[in-house]
Amino acid sequence: MVFWRVKPLDKILETAEKKSLKRQLGPVQLTLLGIGAVIGTGIFVLTAEAAQKAGPGMMLAFVIAAVVCGLAALAYSEIASMIPVSGSAYTYSYGVFGELIAWIVGWALVLEYAIGATAVCVGWSGYVNGLLNSGLFGLTAPGALSLPKWLQTGYFSGGGINLLALLIGIAVTWLLVIGTSKSARVNAVLVAIKIIALLGFIGLALPAAKSSNLVPFLPTGWGSPTGGVGVLGAAASIFFAYVGFDAVSTAAEETKNPNRNIPIGLIGALGVCTIFYLLVGYGAAGAAGAQPLMSAAGAVLDPGTPEMAAACALPQNANALVCSNEPLAHVIRVLGYPKVGNLIALAAVVALPSVILMMMFGQTRIFFTMSRDGLLPDALSKVHEKFHTPHVITYLTGFVVSICAALFPVGKLADTSNSGTLLAFAMVSIGVLVLRKTQPDRPRPFRTPLAWIVCPLAVAGCLLLFVNLSMTAKLVFAAWAVIGLVIYALYGYKRSQLVDGN
Ligand code: ALA
Repeated sequence: MVFWRVKPLDKILETAEKKSLKRQLGPVQLTLLGIGAVIGTGIFVLTAEAAQKAGPGMMLAFVIAAVVCGLAALAYSEIASMIPVSGSAYTYSYGVFGELIAWIVGWALVLEYAIGATAVCVGWSGYVNGLLNSGLFGLTAPGALSLPKWLQTGYFSGGGINLLALLIGIAVTWLLVIGTSKSARVNAVLVAIKIIALLGFIGLALPAAKSSNLVPFLPTGWGSPTGGVGVLGAAASIFFAYVGFDAVSTAAEETKNPNRNIPIGLIGALGVCTIFYLLVGYGAAGAAGAQPLMSAAGAVLDPGTPEMAAACALPQNANALVCSNEPLAHVIRVLGYPKVGNLIALAAVVALPSVILMMMFGQTRIFFTMSRDGLLPDALSKVHEKFHTPHVITYLTGFVVSICAALFPVGKLADTSNSGTLLAFAMVSIGVLVLRKTQPDRPRPFRTPLAWIVCPLAVAGCLLLFVNLSMTAKLVFAAWAVIGLVIYALYGYKRSQLVDGN
């Protein structure tokens, strides 16, 4: 059937060679690129969400999410080193499973990248609002600079318009249009800022951690059949904190010696982040306590809902970690270091926009590759005359990101982004095995160790996390998939470059 038309791997490699971006990234820059894309809203903001879902047991969630990502990273590395071209999971799927699955994966990657960028916009806004509310480093009295409450959070988290999230979305779109994505040096500085902030947090929170704060350790259990709660629900959300390392593979066309450097970049970035997250998770729960808020009926409240917002507005919950939009700064302030807390907030404010930039950049490049393949209209990949950037796609992405950022709560956005990422990771892991069978002799500069165990475990891990996402995310995922299939049937199926005569 034509649905299954496959783009031969040699043809994929050939197309990429024709386009030829300059190969300039080495292993250190790639690892930094990875860390730059990974450390963001997940650890700086969703720590509170994870605590609300799992209590101190969120530490286990960090480990579970890291293991799933680690397994998937091993698979990614094999396939990224075999097919070192832009487009990531979408391109790999095209070469392995054929066009229909490639389209579905590419479509799911829109959730990963565009909705992921949206979540980071909302996370950023939480930290800026926190700084404004606290009086901006003592320049004014607390509250004097605060935005009106209805402009601090989006409609679907009990507010009105998240003004700052909207504005950062617009600003990053503009930066991308004028071609700001290329500065590896700025990225290195921002990575350093994030790492110093996390080290500062760990340095103050770890010594203050008390084992009494970790009891009860699993107040909400492991999970529920409908997902969204317990350790597994937290793992499904906090998975977001690890997402982005695959951005390294989307830079394959710009990498020197990609066969060696891509796996180093992927696994290096993931390893560094995992160590940091475990220490931060332990520090936050141990120093400030991380017990979830319950409804009067004893049910765990769902983060990002008006009910949760109402519970957080009660005076007795004013200092609860689970209520904070800027949990890392909050913990340090509660420990009695307001200035350091503000500095950590400042680091987040300075550094998170680079994550938004990376994710939106990844989104535009995936759309670009899809339109190069004829699955999306050519007009979308139009390049700006002066700035040489794909501005049409960038504006479109920026519009969606900014509007969603203005309205939705960070946790639901992150969960939705995760749904797309998990699908992509699972497909890549299956793809590795398919290629081992169908193309056993193709050179594999990096081989996934114990692939027949690692890849099935990666798929199982992705499935487990997917099932444990919040129901909203799963429903959005399903609706998005249906829309995607309709578009493919009406457009891409006929216009694909692989159709004779195109
Ligand atoms: N991992 C990235 C973040 O946490 C997407 O912001």
